[in-house]
Amino acid sequence: MRTLIKNGTIVNADATTRADILIDGEQVALIGSDLDVSADRTIDASDRWVIPGAIDVHTHMELPFGGTFAKDTFETGTRAAAFGGTTTIVDFAVQPRGGSLRQGLDAWMEKAQGKAVIDYGFHMIVSDVRDDVLSEMDQLVDEGITSFKLFTAYPGVFFSDDGAIFRAMQQSATNGGLIMMHAENGLAIDVVAAEDVAAGHTDPYYHGTSRSPVLEGEATNRVIRLAEVAEAPVYIVHMSATDALNELRQARNEGLPAYAETCPQYLFLTLDDLGNGFEGAKFVCSPPLRPAEHAEELWKGLQTGDLQVVSTDHCPFDFHGQKDLGQGDFRKVPNGLPGVEDRVDLLHDGGVVAGRISPNRWVEVIATAPARMFGMPQKGTISVGADADVVIYNPNRTRTISAATHHMDVDYSCYEGREVQGKSETVLSRGRVIVDNDEFLGSPGDGRFLKRQRPNRG
Ligand code: URP
Ligand code: ZN
Ligand code: ZN
Repeated sequence: MRTLIKNGTIVNADATTRADILIDGEQVALIGSDLDVSADRTIDASDRWVIPGAIDVHTHMELPFGGTFAKDTFETGTRAAAFGGTTTIVDFAVQPRGGSLRQGLDAWMEKAQGKAVIDYGFHMIVSDVRDDVLSEMDQLVDEGITSFKLFTAYPGVFFSDDGAIFRAMQQSATNGGLIMMHAENGLAIDVVAAEDVAAGHTDPYYHGTSRSPVLEGEATNRVIRLAEVAEAPVYIVHMSATDALNELRQARNEGLPAYAETCPQYLFLTLDDLGNGFEGAKFVCSPPLRPAEHAEELWKGLQTGDLQVVSTDHCPFDFHGQKDLGQGDFRKVPNGLPGVEDRVDLLHDGGVVAGRISPNRWVEVIATAPARMFGMPQKGTISVGADADVVIYNPNRTRTISAATHHMDVDYSCYEGREVQGKSETVLSRGRVIVDNDEFLGSPGDGRFLKRQRPNRG
């Protein structure tokens, strides 16, 4: 199958070009002006941008959390991602406590195979660092699972102590993998949260206030310094606070290989969203939403390059039947927000349209940098030989975000009623059109497991 995309404006991270694109099979075969070649199908991209399919390196399909499971499956979640212009995800497989990494990986492979409609890779959540687990990390890196998430948060669930984190970092220094850190001081947070509940402060708002940004800054500094001594790079996930960003800036100014992502919820939502009684449960995630001034600093971090990636941390729980497990005690609200469908448009609207970042930087943070940092050189760019993951994007079309129209399997939207400018109109995954003008044309099982290379920290 040969597809010719005519008259579009290609927006890559490094350049914007008016050119046609010939796709042959699953890859981009030719890029040039006024291509005069035969094709089975021609797509007219006049007045449209042609961007690389976006890559979301932080999703949790079916994550077990707080006595329930994140609601999207690999089928519903990747379908929603595709509608939003995302053609690759990297999800988190979870090591069962006391079990092996292999058991966790096998379980997540099982969830994804035959279901995902777009390509997918896995990071591994390591919650029980043992000698045998350290050896397994080496094997997994060779098998394309080249990044590992550890937590200074969630004591008794995913938490690792500093010694365990340090050992995992030492291992990654030798095997070339990347340690990703959830950096909040979970032990201190649990003390504050217990005090809040004992004082009758049980509403979701106290989820936000009990998780001080200082405790995110402290944990961020700690894991960066552990990585420094282990001589390993470190990637901080879902950074939400100025306190943490300042620690990252300091480390990067010293030349340390420290990196971070933020997420749309920390750029567009605030602590106030956690108010309004139990409605605030819709916005319970960790780290929590912060006062508005933190968001402005995060935008600056994206502008300067101190933050490299915007991912979603997509982890959806229904308001009715899941979030309400935390009625009367905010600690029992399952942590996580839906978002895989809206990232590309939110970042276009709040970033490009609002004049904060250029179209090229937008492509970089949603596609190119994630591909480079997480070992997927065939993705994140429109160039000859790359996978033909291509989005025909209309930068002028507006839409209103709503749970009534989104494709994520969750009963609310964090952005209900927000109008955004910019929309993915046609989405190709390895040369196949999987979304065309609001119609889904893909199939479960079309997505392939990505054996990722070792991260290129670039
Ligand atoms: O609240 C969140 N972020 N839920 C998902 C698990 C995690 O920590 O990433
Ligand atoms: Zn986390
Ligand atoms: Zn997460």
